[in-house]
Amino acid sequence: SMLAGAAACSAQDVVGPSSLSPVEAPAAFDVPLPIPPLAPSTVVDGIRVFELTAQEGTSELLPGVRTPTWGFNGDMLGPTLRASRGERVAVKVANALPEPTTVHWHGMHLPAAMDGGPHQMIEPGGTWRPEWTIDQPAATLWYHPHPHGSTEEHVYRGLAGFFLVEDGVPSGLPAEYGVDDVPVVVQDKRLDADGRLELDSDGNEVGLLGSTVLTNGVAGAMLDVTTELVRLRLLNGSTARVYDFALEDGRSFWHVATDGGLLPEPHETDHVRLSPGERAEIVVAMAPSSETTLVSRAPDLGDVAAPFAFGGNDTFPVLRLAAGASLRQSAPVPQRQAVEPGDAVDPDDAAVTRRFEVQDRSINGRTMDMDRIDETVHVGDTEIWEVTNLDRFPHNWHVHDVQFHVLDVDGAPPSPELAGRKDTVYLEPRRTYRLLMRFEDYADPDSPYMVHCHLLLHEDQGLMAQFVVTDGEEPARSHAAGH
Ligand code: C2O
Ligand code: CU
Repeated sequence: SMLAGAAACSAQDVVGPSSLSPVEAPAAFDVPLPIPPLAPSTVVDGIRVFELTAQEGTSELLPGVRTPTWGFNGDMLGPTLRASRGERVAVKVANALPEPTTVHWHGMHLPAAMDGGPHQMIEPGGTWRPEWTIDQPAATLWYHPHPHGSTEEHVYRGLAGFFLVEDGVPSGLPAEYGVDDVPVVVQDKRLDADGRLELDSDGNEVGLLGSTVLTNGVAGAMLDVTTELVRLRLLNGSTARVYDFALEDGRSFWHVATDGGLLPEPHETDHVRLSPGERAEIVVAMAPSSETTLVSRAPDLGDVAAPFAFGGNDTFPVLRLAAGASLRQSAPVPQRQAVEPGDAVDPDDAAVTRRFEVQDRSINGRTMDMDRIDETVHVGDTEIWEVTNLDRFPHNWHVHDVQFHVLDVDGAPPSPELAGRKDTVYLEPRRTYRLLMRFEDYADPDSPYMVHCHLLLHEDQGLMAQFVVTDGEEPARSHAAGH
């Protein structure tokens, strides 16, 4: 089988991306950056209700070329859902695609039955209505399909959107949606001669690396900056590619938030690495009439085997930022950002440590089985998960339900950009990441949450496990041997 074949590969003969064509950037970056619309909602009986329909369409990814794509409420991507901590929300999801799908709320703390993982399939023509209470700090979350075995294809065809969580805590950061607070999803695609999306990873171990890089669904985008500071909510919505975002002139910016919300202090830096699924909020200062370009540099992937130094020395443009002649004044970036005491997790409370070894397409030697529960967590517990990438190629690690803190990497404190709340972390080869997390509530022995690699080919091929949160009741599904 494919899995056995891959397992037999050694670090020397793994298939790498060196044979692939590099990113081809458009000559000009002058397409106005599309801003996903804020999704309308109605409040019924105290519940804020959104509507999403997954559907087929066509999009102009490259100027003058029509490409068949999938989207929510449109041809590609989806509207931005926005709701506040404490609000009760519901989403009426309809599936107008020719095949089953799901919608998962990536980064959201919510009951597993509402999570939109592979157990909450929506048949073609069917609907699904999850409902939950937003209960986490302000953060840039997102939503995307999660049907087991087809997640890569569904996301790649265009199904993804932002879910912005707000809370009552004033951040002091730019906050006018689409003006100085701008969601930016970055995705790479491969288009054939007819402009159709090709999903062929060429046997590449990490999955598809496309030669066309899109921001909010277009190539060659430009953002008109009208304020002194602009906040970009960067989402790596790619299936496999790791980006190292920087400004072309090398200037620094503020990294203010990670996957799950604000860093305790903004971190001044000149680059931020994002693997698939990760988010970073950055604040860029602009002078009147100036411009710069957000680029991706070759990411430092750690101790990967030679073919995986993908990107080589290549730097490619992602989004041009062009400032107007007069800019509206922005408040300075606050030097401290509030963390509510109830959101802090204390490592001294950790009662349980679990080990996870990631290798090829397996976690602790097992590939995904929808009928097997791999881990059972007791509700209320604080745990440490020790995760090691045993391969010499990239993986990352995404945990549903919780935001975690990186306690250390091979025993050393994490770098500042990993110091905040995270739900996805890049796993450098041969390193051990200790992650701290608390499973506060939502015990349900019958609905598993997922933990997996967010390189979507790996996830589809089985690099995923299931855990339940219980209050002592035994799950109905069978347990993994030895647990
Ligand atoms: Cu972004 Cu389990 O997914
Ligand atoms: Cu992986």
